[in-house]
Amino acid sequence: MFVRNCWYVIAWDHEVPRDALFTRTVLGEAILLYRTADDRIVALRDRCCHRLAPLSKGRKEGDCVRCGYHGLLFDASGRCIEIPGSETVPAKARVQRYPVVVKSKWVFVWMGEEERADPSLLPDNFSCDHPDWDYVPGYLHYETPQALICDNLLDFSHLSYVHEKTLGGTTAIAQARAEIEAVPRGIKVTRRVHDVPPPPYYKAVRKLTGNLDRWFIYDFLLPGTLLMHSGGRPVEDAEGDMRRAVRLHSCQTVTPETATTTHYFFQQSRRVEDGDHGVAEALYRSLIVAFEEDRDMITAQARAIDADPGAPMMLLAMDAAVVRFRKLVADTVADEGGWSAAATARSTGPSISTRGTLDQLGSQQLRRDGAVERRAR
Ligand code: FES
Ligand SMILES: [Fe+2]
Repeated sequence: MFVRNCWYVIAWDHEVPRDALFTRTVLGEAILLYRTADDRIVALRDRCCHRLAPLSKGRKEGDCVRCGYHGLLFDASGRCIEIPGSETVPAKARVQRYPVVVKSKWVFVWMGEEERADPSLLPDNFSCDHPDWDYVPGYLHYETPQALICDNLLDFSHLSYVHEKTLGGTTAIAQARAEIEAVPRGIKVTRRVHDVPPPPYYKAVRKLTGNLDRWFIYDFLLPGTLLMHSGGRPVEDAEGDMRRAVRLHSCQTVTPETATTTHYFFQQSRRVEDGDHGVAEALYRSLIVAFEEDRDMITAQARAIDADPGAPMMLLAMDAAVVRFRKLVADTVADEGGWSAAATARSTGPSISTRGTLDQLGSQQLRRDGAVERRAR
């Protein structure tokens, strides 16, 4: 169950080489990326229309790509313009082209109906390309469905336990209740935690001795993009006084590779004015340790679900954002109608809903908890 009419991040800008072919699978569709002479990125289905060989095993010729099997040549629109040994090229000899946009270092492909590709739906991942923010780009591959990673990002109570020695450092994060509100194509989550020790990974940013007031404020948007301001300020400092605060902005997005595997693109950036550039590398090294903690837990969770796919999950108050976002995905997919369902089934095989659907989460338990119910609707 995937939203199709959406921009999905397929790569960091720097991953797409200048003179070679690059391939990555999104929603079960292998997609070829390459650059034209004027540095425009082209996205084509990585599957020759002749006998379905991957075009990525061929070669780039100017702004075109030649299949490495029998030599059909395709232009940047996906149209075949040459068939070796043939005077003519049938009109139907073409491969699918995807709308593609580069915005602030993220390369997005539109996986839905081409005429509905709308740049205004791109997320504001500003800190990926901003002189005031510094970071090291990250990527992890997951052998789990996208939904489980979205769930993880929607509920930071896990910071207290999964990330006890990295991002968390206190059980107060799990005890704090997040505020949740609707935003266009997503939800906004705000969690504030008062008077807690600095998390171990803040050491990469600055020396802190006393307790902090911490905040996590983020939008989580379709198809699975987190845009977050977070930080911590010494408790004795006035609100608004950021001179001794740690201030971070993070852009993270999870793109389904298939129904059961996922690409995770991320960065955690810091204000350039808060110290020298070496801090970005140190922050990245700390972050990757924490994100491996997530991957380890989510991979183990996916295995446990696979072992007994019918087992229900039990909803708790902390799951309010998880339920709301899953409902938004389900409603959006339903709004897209049969076209989306058929296209997803063709490209991904079995539906992701075999692992942890809304039904399995069980809305009944939600209704028994009035506080959650108010937030979840
Ligand atoms: S499979 Fe591509 S030219 Fe034959
Ligand atoms: Fe995490």
